[in-house]
Amino acid sequence: MSRVESLIARMTLTEKLGQLTMTACGMAVTGPTIAGDSTAAVKSGAIGNLLNLVGPNNVHAMQRLAVKESRLGIPLLIGYDVIHGHRILFPIPLAETACFDPTLWEVSAREAAKEAAADGLAMTFAPMLDVARDPRWGRSAEGPGEDPLVGARIAEAKVRGFQGADLRQADALAACAKHYCAYGCVTAGRDYAPVDISERTLHEVHMVPFAAAVAAGAAAIMPSFTDLNGIPMTANQALLHDWLRGRLGFEGVIISDYNAIAELIRHGIAGDLPEAAALALKAGVDIDMMADAYRYGLPAALERGAVTIADIDQAVRRVLTLKERLGLFEDPFARGRTPESAAALRDRRHLARVIATRSIVMLKNQDDTLPLKSTVRRVALVGPLSDDSSEMRGVWWGAAPPEGHVTVLAGLREALPGAQILHAPGVAIDSADFSGISQGLDHCSAVDAIILCLGEAAIMSGEASSRSYLGLPGSQRRLAEAVFEQARGSATPVIVILFSGRPLVVPWLVEQADAVLAAWFPGSEAGNAIADLITGRASPSGRTPVTWPRAAGQVPIFFSERPSGRPFNATDRFTSKYLDVANEPLFPFGFGLNFGRFEFSNLRLSAASLGIDDAVTVQVDLLNSGAREAQETVFLFTHDKVASVSRPKLELKGFAQITLGPGNKGTVSLSLRASELRFLGMDLAAVFEPGEVDILVGPCADRTQLLVASIHLVAN
Ligand code: NOJ
Repeated sequence: MSRVESLIARMTLTEKLGQLTMTACGMAVTGPTIAGDSTAAVKSGAIGNLLNLVGPNNVHAMQRLAVKESRLGIPLLIGYDVIHGHRILFPIPLAETACFDPTLWEVSAREAAKEAAADGLAMTFAPMLDVARDPRWGRSAEGPGEDPLVGARIAEAKVRGFQGADLRQADALAACAKHYCAYGCVTAGRDYAPVDISERTLHEVHMVPFAAAVAAGAAAIMPSFTDLNGIPMTANQALLHDWLRGRLGFEGVIISDYNAIAELIRHGIAGDLPEAAALALKAGVDIDMMADAYRYGLPAALERGAVTIADIDQAVRRVLTLKERLGLFEDPFARGRTPESAAALRDRRHLARVIATRSIVMLKNQDDTLPLKSTVRRVALVGPLSDDSSEMRGVWWGAAPPEGHVTVLAGLREALPGAQILHAPGVAIDSADFSGISQGLDHCSAVDAIILCLGEAAIMSGEASSRSYLGLPGSQRRLAEAVFEQARGSATPVIVILFSGRPLVVPWLVEQADAVLAAWFPGSEAGNAIADLITGRASPSGRTPVTWPRAAGQVPIFFSERPSGRPFNATDRFTSKYLDVANEPLFPFGFGLNFGRFEFSNLRLSAASLGIDDAVTVQVDLLNSGAREAQETVFLFTHDKVASVSRPKLELKGFAQITLGPGNKGTVSLSLRASELRFLGMDLAAVFEPGEVDILVGPCADRTQLLVASIHLVAN
């Protein structure tokens, strides 16, 4: 008999339910409950998994209780939210997406896994794969942006990165793809609110990254807190048991979100804890995080006949199998045994700088304001985010302390040792007090450049951080307007560094600034990365993975909308538009400037027609006619013009990058398989329909900037 089966045969009900329970150790809390001391329960086998415990000593002490002092000696599975780094932080996930580089996405996850595993951990609650098209939702910051294909590529890269080549390795973490599914569609962008979307949108958009995570071998999946079309995901048998396990073939562990099983009562689908526990178990949830619904509810559910011991055994089997795959039975102390070398930490810090540099999106650069001229001697650095280490971390900071993250002030001082930097916060991030503005203005006179560091506080995005007003918080607009006013007419450029966990609605700011860098939250190397771009040591290359609205009333806003029967026509009142704002976003998906000037030409296809088993190579020439080396991202979209189901105006099918020196030419090739042009037909089954499809290639999702060619799909 296998180890797992022989354990199950020997386990008491309490021990089985312990394996299905995950309790927080109180080092971090993200929900309403905080667990006290769990040592006794670990020893008795009543708790078999922990979260929010870090540090090899802490982890090993608890592990020792489980392995040496519990009756069966089953090791604990210990998880933590390692979201964008652990102690050294990479940019927040939305920012990292802006790199559009799957290799970097993977490498940062690998490094985060090494660091977290060295801290004793075996699981991360990442990657977060929720496609988000409504920036009011604060959790947009944690995910891959608005596009399902990008979400799928992130899923593959992150699962590979966290899990490494073999989960058994001491530096591998089990990945937990979350939050399944469509959490990004909470009503009106309000966190935890119900989700009501069509089956088509669910499967065409929100399911796509999860299917990719499963195919890439993700060890675990976490259902979202939310209700989907009336059925809370934690109890959603159709989507957990039937779809995830049945259709997608997921064999790993399903872990509830924090207290989510107990919340089935408040959702109004369970009358008490045993009923909630039974619904979740029957749906396929193996581990109960923080609700204690399995420990205290399943015994009564068993008595009521709502679940069977076979249901419980099946969940236990999955949990023990994961522990086995992680090598925890062989060596429960492998993770955290060997401290990382100083060189490894130095290299990781360097990588954090590179990725931060790559994640920043240059939104404006009027008259080549950036990079700053080497003659710059006096710089005013004003704004509440210019020298605040802890804010640079953004949402989720793992085990990183507030200090030690490079601020813009520190980065600039290092990059411009000969320059005088006059620094003042001006105002706080979110306060009505504007008394500091005058000091900020004083600094801005007689300088060569003004750098304004504005934006949101880190905690204004992430869980429970929805916003209805998407502008700059507090008195920051007042500060910025005063600075613009003072600088107007002078030769002093005003450069804005914008920090945020979402696209902000700031058309007035973009209009008045000479240059704008959307920095998101760049992580531990923030200030160095920003200084690299400002001084031209690096060329900006980030591209926004979300559409930037020009008014909050435009949201949800995304590039892959389906066509209207009455597309906007300025001369016809009865067409699709607003009376008070343009339809176009402030910045389209994929937008981002660099220090070069790229011209696209000669779009060509290797075939004129495609059968279902064929592929086409799409090529386009690029010329960097600018004066500096730069990297360009090339996006490949399609549009199926006539199909049985109306297709989006643009569908992303691929992206690639090229770096070209000044005056240099190059060619980008992207491959497109005909099978990728299938779509969900009227009955939601995949179909391949003959007909003409547009292939559109260019620098972003603005149709006016895309080159177009056509291809014929033919029946075989
Ligand atoms: C709640 C969050 O929704 C989830 O993303 C996170 O992994 C858990 N808390 C654990 O911290």
